[in-house]
Amino acid sequence: MTSHDCSLSVLHAATELFPWIKTGGLADVAAALPEALGTIGVDTRLVIPGFPDVISALRDDRVVYEAQGLLGTSRMQLRLGTLPSRNTPVYVIDAPSLYARPGSPYSHPHNGDWGDNLIRFAMLGWTAARLAEGGLDPHWRPDVLHVHDWHPALALAYVADSWPPVKSVFTIHNIDYQGRFPPADFNRLDLPHWLCAPYGPLEFFGDLCFLKAGVLLAHKVTTVSPTYAREVTEGQHGHGIDSVIRSRGDALIGILNGVNYSVWDPRNDEHLPARFGIDDLAGKARCKTTLRSRVGLNDRGDAPIFVVVSRLGWQKGSDLIANAADDLVARGAQLVVIGSGDRQIEERFKELQNRHGGMVTIHTEFSEPLAHLAIAGGDALIMPSRQEPCGLTQMYAKRYGTLPLVHAVGGLADTVTIETGFSFVERESSLTATIDRVLQTHQDRPRWMQMVSTAMRTDHSWGKSAEAYRNIYLQILGNTPS
Ligand code: ADP
Ligand code: GLC
Repeated sequence: MTSHDCSLSVLHAATELFPWIKTGGLADVAAALPEALGTIGVDTRLVIPGFPDVISALRDDRVVYEAQGLLGTSRMQLRLGTLPSRNTPVYVIDAPSLYARPGSPYSHPHNGDWGDNLIRFAMLGWTAARLAEGGLDPHWRPDVLHVHDWHPALALAYVADSWPPVKSVFTIHNIDYQGRFPPADFNRLDLPHWLCAPYGPLEFFGDLCFLKAGVLLAHKVTTVSPTYAREVTEGQHGHGIDSVIRSRGDALIGILNGVNYSVWDPRNDEHLPARFGIDDLAGKARCKTTLRSRVGLNDRGDAPIFVVVSRLGWQKGSDLIANAADDLVARGAQLVVIGSGDRQIEERFKELQNRHGGMVTIHTEFSEPLAHLAIAGGDALIMPSRQEPCGLTQMYAKRYGTLPLVHAVGGLADTVTIETGFSFVERESSLTATIDRVLQTHQDRPRWMQMVSTAMRTDHSWGKSAEAYRNIYLQILGNTPS
């Protein structure tokens, strides 16, 4: 882009994309942000691996580049096409030996991370880098490369010596996931040696660390909420990488994620047995009844239902929910858990389900329709995360009049107020005490309905965040003061 030219073009690189490949919020963001940028005039494209459901959904595609033997792999074709109901063109890396596998993008269905993840994600980084340099598609070259999380972060290493420089943004969605590999793997990446020298951008305590390269080599680093941007520079949430992030000083900024209301709005949600809005909540009552029969809860009339829609694990504080479940049931409330992850925590919820039949249930499948029904049919959503970079479900829940109960960290602190939900700070209160507060407020119908109404009216749409990202792109291109 030149100063005479008001068009701005950006290539996003990510591994997940709702609804084709999703393990969590990254998929929702990678789907919604490029579209939101498109609506404010940014010429946006996306590059993702060719996972099976992506390949089968791809339309009007053509091969823009192909290679054999790249990073030691067999055939790779780069296809440019579109996906149903989307405006953002997508480059799909069709490399069956790397990506034609069922299930999660990261791990074997029963056997942990794929053994060749280094090359699977290096390929994504390499492709994003060469596209950003203009080397793969002669018809399109972006002004900015925007990389999400560690998986494509090697793109920033592949452009580290490019001239002219490739302007770049790296977004940290979660510093728990860093992309660490043994140092000997460096020789397989076809990168200049200075990158993995001791204290170099890729070296971290003797390992290769994709996340560190992303943080150190991008022109700007963003996190998905302002509070998390502060937390990742502090020891307690930094996972040892806080000093690396601190070293980026003013290049770090937190931009809150948004909600795609064309997917998450009870007025037009295709997954619900009845739709509803602020002015007519009859449909929400029907969703509650359907939820109970769908997940096997007793019909307890107006008794409140607490819902969880989440990966289960330490980060999410799922063990705290299991600890509080007996008290929750003793107070006459019900609990629905839609989620899986840590096997021990799953077992604890199954044991609670056996002991409190009809009052506690767990469903471990990853089911978009069930997630929507739970968020619509519940009264409160519990999210006591120990860390939460942003969190999307609490924002979804607000739109469905399901009041969030959260631990005030990261994006939870930035999106749940006393008018729209319940939050606790560990040193001052516990989850059980906060559940009591929810139950007391639930008895006070005028107060509860006031909160429901305020929550449902909150606007978390992507527009403001897309503007904030555009400003960052313009800053690094030197078109506005930083
Ligand atoms: P994270 O990305 O850390 O998992 P977020 O709150 O940002 O947390 O996003 C979680 C996303 O995954 C939401 O879209 C939520 O609805 C979805 N999700 C989590 N668990 C399930 C499940 N078992 N079935 C369907 N969707 C789920
Ligand atoms: C990560 C975070 C979550 C965030 C999501 C999307 O998965 O754990 O808090 O909402 O990314 O940015």
